Amino acid sequence: MKIVTSVVEMIDLARTCRSGGSILALVPTMGALHRGHLSLLSIAGEHADCTVMSVFVNPTQFGPDEDYLKYPRTFDADCRAAESAGCDILFAPPVEEMYPPGHRTSVSVSGITERLCGASRPTHFRGVTTVVLKLFNIVNPHVAIFGAKDAQQATVIKRMVVDLHCPTRVIVGPIVREDDGLALSSRNGYLTPAERAVAPLIHRGLGNAEALFAGGERHADVLRDAVRNECAQSELIDPEYVEIVDQLTLEPLSLITSSALLAIACRMKESATRLIDNTLLGAVP
Ligand code: PAF
Repeated sequence: MKIVTSVVEMIDLARTCRSGGSILALVPTMGALHRGHLSLLSIAGEHADCTVMSVFVNPTQFGPDEDYLKYPRTFDADCRAAESAGCDILFAPPVEEMYPPGHRTSVSVSGITERLCGASRPTHFRGVTTVVLKLFNIVNPHVAIFGAKDAQQATVIKRMVVDLHCPTRVIVGPIVREDDGLALSSRNGYLTPAERAVAPLIHRGLGNAEALFAGGERHADVLRDAVRNECAQSELIDPEYVEIVDQLTLEPLSLITSSALLAIACRMKESATRLIDNTLLGAVP
């Protein structure tokens, strides 16, 4: 695996791979790699013969009171994990390379970034789309793989790709979970032991809603209550939202006529860790 830290070198290398006929896949990450990220690399390997994983803790997607400084940085372990998962190029630029002095340009997708997570993180998605477009410009990948846990992020990036004619196909890989159902996240390490013990209630709540949906329930308020009631079993879980929305427009639905995204964000009360999770109701697998 080649490790590249310079933007210019990454542009040249990607160009050389492309002109040699390689299909390039990009897996953008902020590092602190876990099995979820590695599963995205394996999807990348199915679609491309050159896989690039970026490891960049992107400052612009963190709000002023968020965890940018304490976000886990585990570069050496990330390199080992990426290499053993078959990554060809690991791109880890410094902040000054990604945001050159005097930078003034950002990319924002309106509307769909303002609800769900965007309601409490008003600048988050602008940071995400800005850095993802930068990565697309640098690597020019044929495909890019994102995780389904960040469902709103995937929807926003797909919108940007269509709107800005990015010649990159976006693939969304399934959520990877711990044995007890907790969705893997680099932030799970912040949880206190008591929070970690009750965090699987979030996934169990989603499962309860899935079971009701499978039994014919289509009213969003009933399905949302199924999630909220499960989470209410622990006072350590403070749901920020439980929403049922159209997967493309992220508009709230009161009645599900075909498929829908059921998404939840919670604040864990001891560590203030924010966890998100979701499931697609009625989606064709
Ligand atoms: O999902 C993430 O880890 C980040 O939001 C991403 C897509 C790598 C952009 O920084």
